[in-house]
Amino acid sequence: MNSSSKFLALALVALALPAVAETAVPEKAALCAACHGEAGAKPIMPAYPVLAGQYANYLEHSLKEYKSGVRKNPIMTAQAATLTNEEIRALSQYYAAQEGPLYTPSIPGHKVAPK
Ligand code: HEC
Repeated sequence: MNSSSKFLALALVALALPAVAETAVPEKAALCAACHGEAGAKPIMPAYPVLAGQYANYLEHSLKEYKSGVRKNPIMTAQAATLTNEEIRALSQYYAAQEGPLYTPSIPGHKVAPK
């Protein structure tokens, strides 16, 4: 391999890496899918919340509160207890990026604050 093709190969690897990182499914998501459904989009029961499309910081906050005991739910306390802060962050970002059924309805006559 000459030096310019080496450079090209490295540049291609550098371009490919962030794409892989973004789409990677966190390992623990397989556990969550048992109740929250594939990609957190279709829970197995109506009482189980949809995770897909929620704000990442809300999901992270919720998981940390289950873990610390501030938010109490026997099922989720047990789930969150096994997660590290890094796993909580990765799961929250993963679910926030998934397509789901949640949306914000537009209310007739409701004034939306300018951005
Ligand atoms: C055995 C079923 C079950 C499993 C497995 C499970 N959850 Fe949950 N999850 C629930 C239930 C039930 C709730 C609602 C609890 C409540 O009312 O606070 C919930 C709530 C949540 C919430 C709060 C959502 C909201 O809208 O406030 C988050 C975030 C969450 N789960 C993430 C996860 C993650 C991440 C995993 C995998 C590590 C997981 N859950 C595994 C049943 C489960």
